[in-house]
Amino acid sequence: MYCASCVDACVRDALIAALESIPVGSACVVVFATQLAEAIAIVRAHALLADDRVLAVAVARLDGDAAEQLMAAGAAEVLAWHGGIEPIAARLRRWAAVDELLASDAVARTLVGASAAWRRVLRELVEVARFTDAPVLVTGETGTGKELVSRLVHALDARETKRDLVVVDCTTIVPELSGSEFFGHEKGSFTGAVAARNGAFALADDGTLFLDEVGELPLLLQAELLRVVQEHTYKRVGGSVWQTTSFRLVCATNRDLEVERREGRFRSDLYYRIAGWTFHLPTLAERREDILPLARHFLAEHLGEAPEIDDAVAQQLVRREYRGNIRELRQLCARIAYRHVGPGPITFGDLGRDHACDAPSGPWCDNGFQRSISKAVAMGIGLKEIGRIAEDLAVQLAISAENGSLQNAARRLGVTDRALQLRRASGRGANGTNGHNGHNGQNGHNGHDA
Ligand SMILES: Nc1ncnc2c1ncn2[C@@H]1O[C@H](COP(=O)(O)OP(=O)(O)OP(=O)(O)O)[C@@H](O)[C@H]1O
Ligand SMILES: [Mg+2]
Repeated sequence: MYCASCVDACVRDALIAALESIPVGSACVVVFATQLAEAIAIVRAHALLADDRVLAVAVARLDGDAAEQLMAAGAAEVLAWHGGIEPIAARLRRWAAVDELLASDAVARTLVGASAAWRRVLRELVEVARFTDAPVLVTGETGTGKELVSRLVHALDARETKRDLVVVDCTTIVPELSGSEFFGHEKGSFTGAVAARNGAFALADDGTLFLDEVGELPLLLQAELLRVVQEHTYKRVGGSVWQTTSFRLVCATNRDLEVERREGRFRSDLYYRIAGWTFHLPTLAERREDILPLARHFLAEHLGEAPEIDDAVAQQLVRREYRGNIRELRQLCARIAYRHVGPGPITFGDLGRDHACDAPSGPWCDNGFQRSISKAVAMGIGLKEIGRIAEDLAVQLAISAENGSLQNAARRLGVTDRALQLRRASGRGANGTNGHNGHNGQNGHNGHDA
């Protein structure tokens, strides 16, 4: 817990004592009274640099857009404290439960990745999946794991009477048969309807309906879907009886549905129904730290155990471009595993022809990079801090690409070994990025933070 200097000592001591008994995991509680600027700086240091989940607790009245500013600085939640520990404790217990789910086999064994970008989105998704029954929309480029993540929403759904996950691939829906696909049909309702049949809405009753590539759904079908989502009732094709159904809706798309909506290709009313919780999955280029763990995971699928990957191959894997994201990495690993014989490490020879199609092309400071920087500028982060975060990230990625070798990472970055050693000694870049330890001593740190 971090208390801004403005917090009354009695309040601080009471909160520290109360929080002692609560499991906080990687959460960080920032308590403040009047010094908003100080609180924002602490929140930013922990949320953006150390990737902690930050709960900002205001013990005095929150004025104006203070909560907004704290959220913009990276706070996961802002609470106005009116005495009593329960509101804080409830939030921290929830976060601890989410962390437990993240570490469970259902998540950790199927979804590989520990990068900050990945963990941030997964944490929120896991919380929504388990603790709400709200519709979920998953977006992201091709191969980023949208289907895997959508299936996880169903797997984690806590409904006691939960039934099946029904998947409808909207790219393969034939307009003439779509009614039957979704609504089912009565016997004899059209040529070939030799028996009555349930459609996706009936099959998903008490379960989850997963509409993959929902952006491809024709407008007419969007209107029909909207009615079922809103009223939970529908009629089979050729039928006259209203049927009821109740399902959780999970949708995925690699289109920008907000743009589709604005340009009239996706109904606004349906969009707002399905996009209550939207999760945008990062590209593999935005989570390069995850490439080697993912590669080991995929190699192990083929070879039983993940063999060692030699430095040159590891470097190649981390640096190359993956337009097909994780799917492309998976396919590449399958080819590597196929070529690899004998017990030794994966070497350059195992890459075969794949070694040629590699290094990223085009400008390195692409749209993703510019998006991050403009977000930082919009959030009011100073030039110095932006530079520092970029440097820290570059160091982390270089060390990861060099399998932990500081010496090779230094060579790659064109700096001396000593420069990286000094960074590591000061806690920056090498294994985590935290140049803000100064808050600890002066602000009543009680050992709860990560
Ligand atoms: N975090 C992950 N850990 C392990 N495997 C993953 C992960 N994310 C994705 N994959 C694997 O990558 C492949 C692509 O994932 P998925 O089909 O979920 O992507 P998608 O976003 O739905 O792609 P598309 O838009 O092309 O349909 C699958 O083989 C999936 O198992
Ligand atoms: Mg998919």
